[in-house]
Amino acid sequence: MRNRSNSRPSRNLQNMALYVLTPTGCWQYDGPAHCLRKVNDKNLIPLCERQDFVKNAPLHLLYVIKNDRGGQNHVGSAYQNVYLYATSRGLSTVIRAMIDIPSLNRELGLPADYTAVTHQCVGWPKGE
Ligand SMILES: Cc1cc2nc3c(=O)[nH]c(=O)nc-3n(C[C@H](O)[C@H](O)[C@H](O)COP(=O)(O)O)c2cc1C
Repeated sequence: MRNRSNSRPSRNLQNMALYVLTPTGCWQYDGPAHCLRKVNDKNLIPLCERQDFVKNAPLHLLYVIKNDRGGQNHVGSAYQNVYLYATSRGLSTVIRAMIDIPSLNRELGLPADYTAVTHQCVGWPKGE
């Protein structure tokens, strides 16, 4: 079917960003350079801890999108890849939307047209 929309979500817009949250700061993934770049020295993990199991997770990923049609699709693709990798390494992971989005946006200093959408924690299976 021909797409007659003027706001297609493709065109390599790259309208998502990935952050790693640690107790000593936030890092943004730089895809082209394949490295992490430090954004600040803040511990934003508590803003994602609305469920107890999150407190024990050693790795916290935060997905951010530009407020247009495509970002959520990219986030879904990215977090599914994390699921595949985690499973291949015997790790557990949960994608979660129960996060304090306004506070995360503010603390990360995101531009007005960007927003945090989902958090993904990765850890070892319970009991191991
Ligand atoms: C976009 C999205 C947001 C979600 N948010 C939460 C959440 O905030 N808390 C939660 O416990 N599960 C959430 N879930 C569900 C979990 O990611 C997961 O699917 C569920 O815990 C079942 O996991 P399992 O199949 O690995 O047992 C969300 C799922 C999706 C797709």
